[in-house]
Amino acid sequence: MSGLMAGKRLLITGILTDQSIAFAVAKLAQEQGATVVASAFGRTMSLVERILKRLPEPAPLIELDVTAPEHFAALPDRVREHVDGLDGVLHSIANGPQSTLGGGFLTAGWEDVAKAIQISTFSYKDLAVACEPLLSRGSCVLGLTFDATQAWPAYDWMGVAKAGLESANRYLARYLGPKGIRVNLVSAGPLRTIAAKSIPGFERFEQAWVDRSPLGWSLTDQEPAARTCLALLSDWFPSTTGEIVHADGGFHAVGA
Ligand SMILES: NC(=O)c1ccc[n+]([C@@H]2O[C@H](COP(=O)([O-])OP(=O)(O)OC[C@H]3O[C@@H](n4cnc5c(N)ncnc54)[C@H](O)[C@@H]3O)[C@@H](O)[C@H]2O)c1
Repeated sequence: MSGLMAGKRLLITGILTDQSIAFAVAKLAQEQGATVVASAFGRTMSLVERILKRLPEPAPLIELDVTAPEHFAALPDRVREHVDGLDGVLHSIANGPQSTLGGGFLTAGWEDVAKAIQISTFSYKDLAVACEPLLSRGSCVLGLTFDATQAWPAYDWMGVAKAGLESANRYLARYLGPKGIRVNLVSAGPLRTIAAKSIPGFERFEQAWVDRSPLGWSLTDQEPAARTCLALLSDWFPSTTGEIVHADGGFHAVGA
């Protein structure tokens, strides 16, 4: 098999529908020669089984609910049932109770905020640590953020969770670098996935993104973000870690 990802073994979390950013990454990765193991959680497993059939190649599915410590403990063995190690792992997971999004910033309680941060931030560390015994030198842990340097309408505690994710990315790079493991984030522009559509008011800045991005931006094309993910998962960023690469049409770089 030839291609950018020939021979690479990837664990891809976060596929929910064929609009998921993770689905686009899995599809491109397989097209470029990678072997993909997917994970999903609880009530989404049977839906994701069906979605995986739309990939070019079969991909085994393992269960990982990032709020279940026992799933992280079992993860290396579950992955080893399908591949003998990993060259990359994609964290494409975010979620928070409705109270933490869509204008609830001042009223959301700690329990709900803690849930959002556990799923969207702390799980990045948990996933990296669970996969570490499987990861070879030169491999990459990769996550997805939404520019946390600004306060967006409606994004609320998810914005705080993403700021934490961006910091966790740097700490993971510090701790895993000596083992030869790279740790990076892709900062994607807005895309109409289930996660985005579940944030009331997220559409308030969608049009500005389309209008203002120097390169333009499509709200329904996951491929630019997925290609950026694949590039970082490949061997072509060998000395890049703790980094955040924007795949956002250039929006972050320009003012009004
Ligand atoms: N869509 C956007 O506009 C956008 C922009 C930038 C970054 N992102 C980020 O991209 C990532 C993927 O989101 P998406 O937009 O593809 O949406 P999506 O809804 O397709 O994916 C979110 C995933 O999180 C998973 N998830 C939620 N709770 C979980 C749990 N407890 N355990 C395991 N998995 C759980 C869901 O099953 C789903 O697969 C997220 O980190 C999101 O914040 C999205």
